[in-house]
Amino acid sequence: MKINCLNPIAKCGTDLFTNDYQITEEFNEADVVLVRSAAMHDLTVSDKLLAVARAGAGVNNIPIDAYAEKGIVVFNTPGANANGVKELVLAGLLLGSRDIIGGANWVTESKDDADIAKTAEKKKKAFAGNEIQGKKLGVIGLGAIGALVANAAVSLGMEVYGYDPYVSVDAAWKLSRSVKHITNVNDIYTNCDFITVHVPLLDSTKGMINADAISRMKDGVVVLNFARDILIDEKALLDAIDEGHVKRYVTDFANPTVAGHKGVICTPHLGASTEESEDNCAIMAVKEIRDFIENGNVVNS
Ligand code: MLT
Repeated sequence: MKINCLNPIAKCGTDLFTNDYQITEEFNEADVVLVRSAAMHDLTVSDKLLAVARAGAGVNNIPIDAYAEKGIVVFNTPGANANGVKELVLAGLLLGSRDIIGGANWVTESKDDADIAKTAEKKKKAFAGNEIQGKKLGVIGLGAIGALVANAAVSLGMEVYGYDPYVSVDAAWKLSRSVKHITNVNDIYTNCDFITVHVPLLDSTKGMINADAISRMKDGVVVLNFARDILIDEKALLDAIDEGHVKRYVTDFANPTVAGHKGVICTPHLGASTEESEDNCAIMAVKEIRDFIENGNVVNS
């Protein structure tokens, strides 16, 4: 059996295989593919492809319906990179409440000012912000990442509201008791100072943060998106920033609509880009493949 890493992830993943397995570059001949976030929609795969393991949570880079018709199994690695994403969301909360980036950029731009310390004292007023302690955070989606974000925000002193129509009893007990579990997403829109989205990309969630939802939000709200960009009508959100209704949009998805727009803080999908998360995903994905090959077990598919 040949196993091909389309987008090489972490070195450790392959250590789990014995020498019985051969790592090759020939994607078209692969029986099993291990992929991170590269899009597989336009790729021709071999007729003998048995399984695709996605080292990450979202499977929107994989044509799962077409693969299901061919009997190709798709695995993902839920939770394996959740801590990496959670930590970037926490950074996003802080970047959304204080103009850390504006202040740091100003220092870089002023590097030739011999009197920079004095100038800074006058300038710093322009970068004043707010604290997150005591502010209301709405977490939409309480899966692995959403639950971690909600609990961490509680420990930072935020008042946290969690919404997830599908949250299971199992997931609910992972939440801090201080997270207020609400059943109507509108309560998040109308009450929260910060709103972060952690739902999977489905037909039912695409564009769920639309112009109507945005219009219900509080003035000065900060919206965070570390899940998928098309969950949000970004054009409507940018209009709301221009109108002064939304304070900031912190997103981990770079695209031409948001890049460089006033009030937008955008990173290039770095949520899971930590050594730890990459290792965790690689290990879980390789274990899933091995269990499938050796025992015929299908997990997280
Ligand atoms: C995921 O779906 O796991 C995240 O978007 C992280 C990633 O794939 O880089």
